Amino acid sequence: MVEKVSRNFFLFLSHNRLISSGAKKWGLKFGASQVVAGVAIEEMIESLKELNQKGLVCTVDHLGEYVQSKEEALESTAMAIQTLEAIAASGVSSHMSVKLTQLGLDINAEFCLENMKKIVRVAKKHDIFMRIDMEDYTRCQKTLDILAELRKDYENIGTVIQAYLHRAEKDVDELQDLSLRLVKGAYKERATVAYQEKEKVDENYFNIIKKHLLNGKYTAIASHDHHIIKKVKAFAKENNIPKSQFEFQMLYGMRTEMQQSIADEGYTMRVYVPFGKDWYGYFMRRLAERPQNVKFALRGLFSN
Ligand code: FDA
Repeated sequence: MVEKVSRNFFLFLSHNRLISSGAKKWGLKFGASQVVAGVAIEEMIESLKELNQKGLVCTVDHLGEYVQSKEEALESTAMAIQTLEAIAASGVSSHMSVKLTQLGLDINAEFCLENMKKIVRVAKKHDIFMRIDMEDYTRCQKTLDILAELRKDYENIGTVIQAYLHRAEKDVDELQDLSLRLVKGAYKERATVAYQEKEKVDENYFNIIKKHLLNGKYTAIASHDHHIIKKVKAFAKENNIPKSQFEFQMLYGMRTEMQQSIADEGYTMRVYVPFGKDWYGYFMRRLAERPQNVKFALRGLFSN
């Protein structure tokens, strides 16, 4: 009960545009620096180097979402390209993740597609894989439509399927020839489109993981849930699925000891590294996921 109220509270706060735009001017606050790798590109590159040295690979996210003006979307596009150039120039091992609402999805889908094309073209030049994060349900089909357009010209691209959605299994079937990141889902969704009970989400999550692994396509299991991770390792072993066909992913700053031990066992462990001044919505979703994460925030109040 407390968990549900806390989740809804932080998800509600994550949408507050006023605080979000104010937060861009504050720098990282309330302990956000424990889950966000700095505001500037240089700070993010330093974090990537440290992670790579420990045997962890990365995917970088230049934070931002729900952009309302073309000007901001173009700025985000330019920043994504700058990020790709910095990854290439520094020689770090990293993919890049993007959110389409940062690139103008809510303004005009065609405009957003053009921005994505500019980014994916540069990523291709540097042989960097691009992952389109999945946002809330109202943007899900639009995101898959843009992905379909991009796939006509590019192969260095994939997306995310959220297990809490009723449509997840069908989407995994339709995208069975694509590299997929599978997650439980981070947004507040209606019961008409998404499972509400944790047990149902977990069950569907493991189902779609098994399905995509058995399809023989590359599967990124993005979860901090040790039960799921243990089950995936056992399932892969039983079914002779090689370690080269899947990877685990976790968020920067979360379960860092487990990240290291998974990498040390010889699995690919990819850390999702967010950076940038638009940290507020991302940080609120992390607080919503796990009440214990609120301790970060409370400790952070006194340290930055
Ligand atoms: P969950 O939060 O369900 O926890 C299960 C159990 O694991 C807990 O009960 C606890 O025992 C343990 N646990 C979890 N976190 C822990 C911690 N920090 N320390 C100790 N124990 C812990 N969502 C989305 O909608 N679109 C997207 O594009 C993405 N992308 C994405 C990328 C990556 C790399 C990750 C890891 C996650 C996402 N997500 C996402 C978020 C995802 O949908 C989901 O909200 C969170 O990962 C939380 O669910 P988990 O599976 O991690 O475990």
